[in-house]
Amino acid sequence: MNVTIIHGQNHQESSYHAGRFLVNQFNDVEELHEFFLPDDLPVFCIGCYRCMHEGEEYCPHYQYLKPITQAIESSDLLIFTTPVYCFHVSAPMKTLLDHYFTWWDSHRPKATMYNKQAVIISSGAGAGMKSAIQDIKTSLSHWGISNIKICGFRSQAIHWSDVNQKNKHNVQQKLIKIANSLKQPPHPQIKTKAMFMIMRVTQLKKWSACQKDYDYWQEQGWLGKKRPWKSYE
Ligand SMILES: Cc1cc2nc3c(=O)[nH]c(=O)nc-3n(C[C@H](O)[C@H](O)[C@H](O)COP(=O)(O)O)c2cc1C
Repeated sequence: MNVTIIHGQNHQESSYHAGRFLVNQFNDVEELHEFFLPDDLPVFCIGCYRCMHEGEEYCPHYQYLKPITQAIESSDLLIFTTPVYCFHVSAPMKTLLDHYFTWWDSHRPKATMYNKQAVIISSGAGAGMKSAIQDIKTSLSHWGISNIKICGFRSQAIHWSDVNQKNKHNVQQKLIKIANSLKQPPHPQIKTKAMFMIMRVTQLKKWSACQKDYDYWQEQGWLGKKRPWKSYE
């Protein structure tokens, strides 16, 4: 199994350690790709729409995105970790999600996403983990990933070393359960397929945001009988 882990922070504290703990639950990891934000993507999306109209490789930040994209595309499991910042994801994590907006099913979803699994881990001192996780989950769902597990946990601390034993034990137990559940092969869920079919109608009716989106759906064969999850069923 290939795994990509993306940390919404450069430092190695609670969210990082939880993410690494999860990775260590698998004994079949062949390739592990790890990214730290903002170090690995130190720029905001500037809204130039070059990704949309010309292609993702024309993004002015493609030099940063390329290795992240390659890792994500070649991985079976994606893990995202983020601290809660003001009830949401860290700004660097939001920046990463913004850069991939053309991967949404309303634009040009990647067929490989329909066969991936993902885990979102978020640590907050007290509250806001649910909304921080939702920030990431919304994007991943629209990328076409069905099987998304979540793990929010209360650190009550700034440093991992200060997280009390009870909280550490609780999060580790949750992560062990998640790891066990991921050992089953993923199945695209009805909700994901239904969303795809709704987006297909918007393409058929030529309500696409741009011609490139329409052409992409046409090339994939999705305006005909092909479906991105078919080769995996
Ligand atoms: C800018 C900033 C905003 C924060 N906002 C929240 C918050 O809304 N809710 C919360 O519970 N903790 C908040 N915290 C605390 C961190 O989320 C908490 O310490 C978390 O465990 C840090 O994770 P990390 O060790 O992976 O960085 C905030 C911390 C910072 C620096």
